[in-house]
Amino acid sequence: MSGSIYEGKSKIVCKGKDESTLIIRYKDSATAFNGEKKAELPGKAQLNASISNIIFSYLAQHGIETHLIEVIDETTVLVKKAEIVMVEVIVRNIAAGSFSKKYGIPEGTALKNIVVEFCIKSDELGDPMINESQITAIGLAQPQELAEMIQQSRKINDLLCALFVKAGIKLIDFKLEFGRSGGQIILCDEISPDSCRLWDMETDKKLDKDRFRRDLGNVLDAYREVLRRLQNV
Ligand SMILES: Nc1ncnc2c1ncn2[C@@H]1O[C@H](COP(=O)(O)OP(=O)(O)O)[C@@H](O)[C@H]1O
Ligand SMILES: [Mg+2]
Repeated sequence: MSGSIYEGKSKIVCKGKDESTLIIRYKDSATAFNGEKKAELPGKAQLNASISNIIFSYLAQHGIETHLIEVIDETTVLVKKAEIVMVEVIVRNIAAGSFSKKYGIPEGTALKNIVVEFCIKSDELGDPMINESQITAIGLAQPQELAEMIQQSRKINDLLCALFVKAGIKLIDFKLEFGRSGGQIILCDEISPDSCRLWDMETDKKLDKDRFRRDLGNVLDAYREVLRRLQNV
């Protein structure tokens, strides 16, 4: 794509219409385990773009400041250019994934409170977990920025749980990225089955990237199901 300024694992970032915007194009590439596992899944770009756009519009309608300005086409969005905070926020409602492995808690175990945790966004370091005092100590975010990110993440969790429940989906956990823009902390990047764990309410069937990570098959059928259900809420 012309004017490409960064090609990531799942999206391409290009210059926007002016200095304050960027164009992000979703790719069909799927990656897991810090890029060790890779595949092309034709149609994933469109599915993730559509799902993320529905979610970002919904969050914006409910008072969350997001980077989304305009949907350009099926795989491309115009966004506010932000200075990404190099900390990923992970919100967990139910034990799964690395949390289950690290602490020996079976996947699917209900948690007595919502868990908010953080990783440094660094492929080089393998996205290591980091705590609040470490984040501010090394200057990845200012204390007030971190507080804002946590508050926004909790609000986003409440909003997303309410949305997914209507779609017959349990929101197990998800990852968020925030950025600095116009003196504010805004929600950036994407929210899709690549960045969330989503289980069918009735059967606990996985409808997210774990189908790819764990070779469960029918990855895109699951993503399509998530989109279909969100379109009908
Ligand atoms: N609004 C934004 N402004 C600037 N950068 C953004 C914005 N939204 C997302 N990004 C960044 O664009 C990149 C998107 O491409 P992606 O394939 O997800 O990359 P990565 O391999 O780094 O995860 C990410 O590095 C993400 O942090
Ligand atoms: Mg990414």
